[in-house]
Amino acid sequence: MKPLFILILSLAFGSTTALADSDKYGGENRGKPVLPSQSNKLWKQECGACHMAFAPGLLPAESWRKMMGGLDKHFGTDASLTAPENREITAFLVNNASNRWRAPSAPLRITETTWFQRKHDELAAATWKRAAIKSPANCAACHPGADKGDFEEDRVRIPR
Ligand code: HEC
Ligand code: HEC
Repeated sequence: MKPLFILILSLAFGSTTALADSDKYGGENRGKPVLPSQSNKLWKQECGACHMAFAPGLLPAESWRKMMGGLDKHFGTDASLTAPENREITAFLVNNASNRWRAPSAPLRITETTWFQRKHDELAAATWKRAAIKSPANCAACHPGADKGDFEEDRVRIPR
């Protein structure tokens, strides 16, 4: 009986720790790494035309599918692509999406995700509105290496 008991115990314990990890930020967690070592030129060019090209690991696959399916109405602008361009970029985003997202949610804004809000809860509302920042989506204002997927806490610099 003893080995079975230990097996059950370790199974129960194992699943508890796995749950704790996936439950972080209510299951809305960015991936690790946020940017794959193999980037994509078309994505960088097209999705970096109006703002920084947001790394695929910042959102889950379902968010990218939704976003790429509605580029003609992209946050009040038209960011449409040709069908082949859309297919290539969608594949890059979906294949490298967050690998730690467990929630069924699929938000379109990174800045509305639970992990983003928890990581930035120390910042006052007025800080986001500073002239050099303007919007929480302006990652590079405070994370100089944002375009390389570098969001290390030690390298954060908040402009005055
Ligand atoms: C024609 C300009 C334009 C292009 C091209 C464009 N975007 Fe955007 N995007 C916007 C605007 C405007 C916003 C809203 C910015 C804001 O509210 O601060 C936005 C917001 C976003 C956000 C949400 C940021 C947040 O608040 O968390 C994501 C993610 C995003 N875009 C991804 C993409 C992807 C992926 C592509 C390439 C397929 C792309 N964008 C191409 C204009 C563009
Ligand atoms: C107003 C400045 C500011 C902006 C804009 C900003 N951040 Fe941050 N970010 C911070 C600060 C401050 C921290 C927390 C650093 C700490 O805890 O020491 C942080 C932490 C993070 C972390 C956690 C780093 C870690 O090591 O755990 C990530 C990931 C991150 N930000 C991503 C983003 C993304 C993606 C954007 C844009 C969509 C963004 N940030 C926009 C200031 C900013």
